[in-house]
Amino acid sequence: MALQNLLTEKIGGIYKITINRPDKLNALNRETIQELNTVLEEAKTDDGIRCLIITGSGEKAFVAGADISEFAHFSVEEGEELARQGQIKLFDKIERFPKPVIAAVNGFALGGGLELAMACHIRIASDNAKLGLPEVSLGVIPGYGGTQRLPMLVGRGRANQLIFSAEMITAETAAHWGLVNKFVPQADLLQECTTLADKISRNSPAAISFAIEAVNAGFEDGKNGYHAEIEAFGKAFGTADFKEGTGAFLDKRKPVFTGK
Ligand code: COA
Repeated sequence: MALQNLLTEKIGGIYKITINRPDKLNALNRETIQELNTVLEEAKTDDGIRCLIITGSGEKAFVAGADISEFAHFSVEEGEELARQGQIKLFDKIERFPKPVIAAVNGFALGGGLELAMACHIRIASDNAKLGLPEVSLGVIPGYGGTQRLPMLVGRGRANQLIFSAEMITAETAAHWGLVNKFVPQADLLQECTTLADKISRNSPAAISFAIEAVNAGFEDGKNGYHAEIEAFGKAFGTADFKEGTGAFLDKRKPVFTGK
């Protein structure tokens, strides 16, 4: 499929996805969500990819939200379906993705844009980033997981403040609240994310995917995180990566992981 709204680039084991609708501040329309779904499916089974970075094109916006022009005339049923399909196709998919996904938040991350960043496993922002969930100013609420993931990241009180006031916070405040892990000058953002992705890529892909499952389990309905951890811990012992990692340590050499 020819991509209309994304730029993708593989650099070593890192797969960089750039949402590329700068004239619309990279707003997420239906097509962009579908394209993200497609490239994520491909990246999942590509053994050469160890870590993903998602960012927005230009210097102004990561993603300024869901594309308002697409849903302005939706009915109750269409609204519900928009949220359901988006969550299934993209936001839950990223959160459960078996390889780490880093959001490089390079500017406005609003509404669906902040929800996209929050679905990623790690967030790093540029110093000009502005983050918020302005949906109530449009007469709607966050529908791509924002009411759930924001309280998990910053606590219920701060989440309520952001959601009810529709205000934007700076990268500095976001870092202080734990909404992003850190912020750096915009010119350094991609290098910062790449350095982290490189560090991650040196570790066992199999173990990392088990870690993602175990961490997520603690936040999922009907799952017990501690039980999930025990199960995933056990499963790790059955991998070639475990034999390689422990063997390399005992042999005093660097491990070469395959993710098997
Ligand atoms: N959906 C659709 N189009 C969007 C958009 C969105 N979420 N966010 C920005 N755009 C479009 C604007 O309509 C404009 O398009 P145009 O040039 O064809 O008129 C273009 O992107 C540039 O945006 P503009 O508003 O002119 O930039 P700005 O610098 O004045 O303001 C923002 C930047 C982010 C403050 C402003 O664009 C904004 O409030 N966007 C909506 C944010 C939002 O509510 N998101 C949640 C959606 S659920």
